[in-house]
Amino acid sequence: MMQAGDVLSGDARDDLLAAKDLTKTFGGLAAVKNVSFSVSAKAIKAIIGPNGAGKTTLYDLLTGIYLPDEGNVLFQGREIVGLATHEITALGVARTFQTIRLFTGMTVMENVMVGLHHRTKTGFVKSALRVPSGLREEAWMREESLRILDIVGLEMQAESLAGSLPFGQQRLLEVARALATAPRVLLLDEPASGLNAYETRELGGIIYRIRDMGVTVILVEHDMGLVMRISDEVLVLDYGEIIAEGTPEEVSADARVIEAYLGSEID
Ligand SMILES: Nc1ncnc2c1ncn2[C@@H]1O[C@H](COP(=O)(O)OP(=O)(O)OP(=O)(O)O)[C@@H](O)[C@H]1O
Ligand SMILES: [Mg+2]
Repeated sequence: MMQAGDVLSGDARDDLLAAKDLTKTFGGLAAVKNVSFSVSAKAIKAIIGPNGAGKTTLYDLLTGIYLPDEGNVLFQGREIVGLATHEITALGVARTFQTIRLFTGMTVMENVMVGLHHRTKTGFVKSALRVPSGLREEAWMREESLRILDIVGLEMQAESLAGSLPFGQQRLLEVARALATAPRVLLLDEPASGLNAYETRELGGIIYRIRDMGVTVILVEHDMGLVMRISDEVLVLDYGEIIAEGTPEEVSADARVIEAYLGSEID
């Protein structure tokens, strides 16, 4: 069974995930236009841009929710456009959603187990029904869930109902559920949205911890403090197109970026 810590064994690559000339149009509006980028193994790459810039649509293209009108997505050099979302997850690309999607009536641990079932032979349903052959696997799933919950600091809440958690912890539970699929690349869509300053700092530490486990992190985020503090590289989208790419220092000094954010001329 693959562990989250094993993810790079033998195949660390420069371009773990790459987009090539991706375009997606909705009724004449190009939400994503000619976007190409790659992300290296073990990097933290932020994707920023004003509301409606195309960040979530780009995630939807990378994870198989939408088919691009044009372009391609490569994971470890392999074309993944056309694969089903669960196949892309099984290859090692996991994501969280801008709007939290948890099973609120299930426990914290059960939510993580939903992610884990991608990695088990018996499958979640059989274990949940306590079929005898699933018993050893269920013990493994409990242990593994607790290990993953510990990464995001929710181990003590394992038996609580997901819907009873404060908002910030629900966001962390989404991250834990994504981690349970043992991803090589984790796509986070505004994980700090709705978090207070303290929770956002904690989140930064958790993202570092995930990166240190060997997982590449892509971060769509509006909290510029967090982005500038933890990212190795920043890609900036505006109206579906890349307008800048570089280190946090480079993009924050870029006139087009400042203009896109302030909506004003720089002279
Ligand atoms: N399913 C859809 N049908 C029609 N238009 C869409 C659809 N999804 C996104 N769009 C449009 O595509 C553009 C990009 O939207 P997207 O949600 O990707 O932006 P975003 O950068 O994630 O914005 P935000 O920061 O507000 O989350 C917007 O103009 C949006 O209205
Ligand atoms: Mg979005």
